[in-house]
Amino acid sequence: MQKEKLLMTPGPTMIPPRVLEVMGRQIIHHRTKEFEDVLDGLQEDLKFVFQTKNPVLMFASSGTGAMESAIVNMFSPGDKVLVVSVGAFGDRFAEIAKVFGLDVQKLAVNWGETVNVSEIEDILNKDVNKEIKAVLMTHNETSTGVTNDVEAVGKILKGTERLLIVDAISSLGGLDLQTDNWGVDVVITGSQKALMGPPGLAFVSVSDKAWEAYERSTLPKFYWDYKKFKKAILKETSENPPYTPAITLITAQAEALKMMKEEGLQNVFERHKKLALATQAGVRALGLELLPKQEDSSYIITAVKAPEGIDVEKIRKIMNLKYDIMITGGQKHLKGKIFRIGHCGYVNKFDLVKTFAALEYAFDEVGYNVEAGASVAAVQKALK
Ligand SMILES: Cc1ncc(COP(=O)(O)O)c(C=O)c1O
Repeated sequence: MQKEKLLMTPGPTMIPPRVLEVMGRQIIHHRTKEFEDVLDGLQEDLKFVFQTKNPVLMFASSGTGAMESAIVNMFSPGDKVLVVSVGAFGDRFAEIAKVFGLDVQKLAVNWGETVNVSEIEDILNKDVNKEIKAVLMTHNETSTGVTNDVEAVGKILKGTERLLIVDAISSLGGLDLQTDNWGVDVVITGSQKALMGPPGLAFVSVSDKAWEAYERSTLPKFYWDYKKFKKAILKETSENPPYTPAITLITAQAEALKMMKEEGLQNVFERHKKLALATQAGVRALGLELLPKQEDSSYIITAVKAPEGIDVEKIRKIMNLKYDIMITGGQKHLKGKIFRIGHCGYVNKFDLVKTFAALEYAFDEVGYNVEAGASVAAVQKALK
């Protein structure tokens, strides 16, 4: 008997019933007062979750599109940037920058580790001619389950000409990211993870310093042109937004952000932290190890080393087909070596308890001995 799939993945994540209900409604036209009110409310709530006073731009796109948008709006061909990569998504940022002809210096860190911020500082100190125009980094590296210290990097860059551009696609709304206080110039995120919306929207905040960089940038842009979207938000043009928006996704996202406001941002962060720590306790009770050091382990997604000789894909298949719970495997060279449990967005403690019960069954089925109930008890204890 199949039940609704529980996605314990790092995106897309489960969509709250209140949001689903909104998605089932008849379409409304975007050049109406009704839709304008939705946009205005959403804009205020986006500023709230981004912790910024600046307008938050919105695109019909996945997160990767918005990463590309940051490159074409901030830079010119040949501009030098420092890309910090601690996993697959940091690598992607470097690749996009290269495709657009930027001069990319990559600071690569072993997968499973976070960046040592003093290494960034050293590189920037050595750049005496100030050729490096920006630091591009991932806040939460979903492929390895670690969270970088964006606040510390912000401190290094504050008061300088250099921009800080952060991929917060899997973190914003689940982890604290104080855009303005920490001096993050461009923050990029997507609808389908901690923000509890359906996939298909991307959001970008742009600081005053980044708007100055926009004015200097010569890379071609049309759909991605930030200024058109900003003018629309500020109502300097009647075309708000500039192109036909993803109306259904937008109304859904507006509802999801209302829920986050009702819960309170700090409570949302606290819930993510508690679920993550409980996940770590469950992993230990299964006799397994995290991929990262515990203190680096993300509150959004937990990456776990697969036990020797155990087929991760088989575990995932059993969980999916028999127990209707989806977890994720490893990416690139970590494929088959780790599995990842997402606990981000619309997730509660019972979802986690169920996940560990299913994990125990699945491990048992493939011949890895686990004491029945041990990890479930550990999770419940940690959540008390
Ligand atoms: C940290 C990070 N960056 C970028 C992306 C890419 O986002 P999208 O798949 O929405 O293009 C993801 C998606 O998982 C991510 O987790």
